[in-house]
Amino acid sequence: MRGAVLILLSCVVWSVGVGCSEDEADSGQEPGNNDTSQEANGELLFMMPHQDGNTYACYSCHALEEPASDGFARAGHALGGATRRESFKNGQFEDILDAVNICRTEWMGAPAFAADDERWQALRGFMDESGPEGPVEALTFEVVEPLADTDGGDVEEGRDFFNASCALCHGQNATGTQQAPALVGEFLNAGLIARRVRTSGEVESGAYEGLTGGRMPFWAADRINDDQLRDVLAFVLQHDPGGEPDENDLPDDLERQCDSTHPSVGRSGVFSDFSHDIGGVATIVDDCTIEISAFAFDGGGINVQVYAGLGGDYDNGFSISGDLRRAGGYDGTETIFVQLPEGRTLDELDGVSIWCVPVGINFGDARFE
Ligand code: HEC
Ligand code: HEC
Repeated sequence: MRGAVLILLSCVVWSVGVGCSEDEADSGQEPGNNDTSQEANGELLFMMPHQDGNTYACYSCHALEEPASDGFARAGHALGGATRRESFKNGQFEDILDAVNICRTEWMGAPAFAADDERWQALRGFMDESGPEGPVEALTFEVVEPLADTDGGDVEEGRDFFNASCALCHGQNATGTQQAPALVGEFLNAGLIARRVRTSGEVESGAYEGLTGGRMPFWAADRINDDQLRDVLAFVLQHDPGGEPDENDLPDDLERQCDSTHPSVGRSGVFSDFSHDIGGVATIVDDCTIEISAFAFDGGGINVQVYAGLGGDYDNGFSISGDLRRAGGYDGTETIFVQLPEGRTLDELDGVSIWCVPVGINFGDARFE
């Protein structure tokens, strides 16, 4: 049943109009450039990824009304008629464009819209006509710390919630999609999952306090309550054989055992790819261990190691792995773990690079911001 809903969703999304790929072929432009050629069609701009951004659409995180027509509950609130709210992001902005541009730049990897950009005007018009008529009340929402007591959730309830919300990106039963990794067999622990749900997101604009990095959106207090979150934890952790929710559930063969006391634990970043097809997500899982999930690397280069550094400066960084090269490379489905050497601490890094040691070249890096 839920599977059917998901398939329906992709039909809805792809039947809205011209597919991205056709558009790109027409305009002859690569997505990711500062490209303003996307048709100024408000519905398309709401439902589809933007040509100058990543794979997120507004619709990945916001419905137009609730319950949404496809049945999914999303991280952000519904936006039909939001154009008529008096203020945005807890009263920080009076112009909706400021709020939208934060979503564009921080979540969608796209440049801000100028006020006179036709695409923005079309998108604004679409949101305006999609909601209730008349004035619309401003929203308040709360970014909250992850709950301390993670026990006692109900697996079945958790599955229902997950498959009608998180599944939009993580897939039915957490098996993964192109939007987000599988959460099955990933050695996750309850604290880490709860932190991702509550405080995931970019932090540069400072529009939200307390976010800990990552491409996943945070879920405010009223988007998932603590009881629902406990259920989701129970559901996700049942896949982890022998997983004790409160223990750091890492593979047995790691050299070092560390506590999870440093404030950076739980932070994560997505790898950029400068060369050699680097991909994956790096997450700090305890005071000395970094997990790299969905790791991709073509396996080439000359002595390639994971380097840790501050502010993107890996020349002055330090190695936290052996040589990663191997025939066939890594195809983006594996999870690897790397550990800080004795004597190093998480204060000494805010990013990790796939670093070609003899020549000092960054193949791609993930920043924990
Ligand atoms: C990856 C998720 C994500 C994407 C993609 C995204 N947003 Fe958001 N957006 C959020 C979150 C989270 C919030 C804050 C909480 C909320 O609104 O529930 C937010 C807040 C907003 C707000 C402020 C709401 C208010 O009244 O305070 C507006 C307006 C908005 N987004 C518009 C957009 C538009 C338009 C797009 C597409 C161009 C977009 N967003 C794309 C996650 C996202
Ligand atoms: C809009 C898309 C989206 C939604 C919805 C979403 N996630 Fe995510 N999530 C991601 C992405 C992308 C990543 C990987 C990048 C990152 O870490 O931010 C991720 C990462 C995670 C991780 C870390 C995985 C790891 O191996 O370290 C957890 C745990 C997680 N999500 C749980 C959830 C749960 C639970 C929900 C529902 C309450 C949810 N996500 C909803 C996009 C999403």
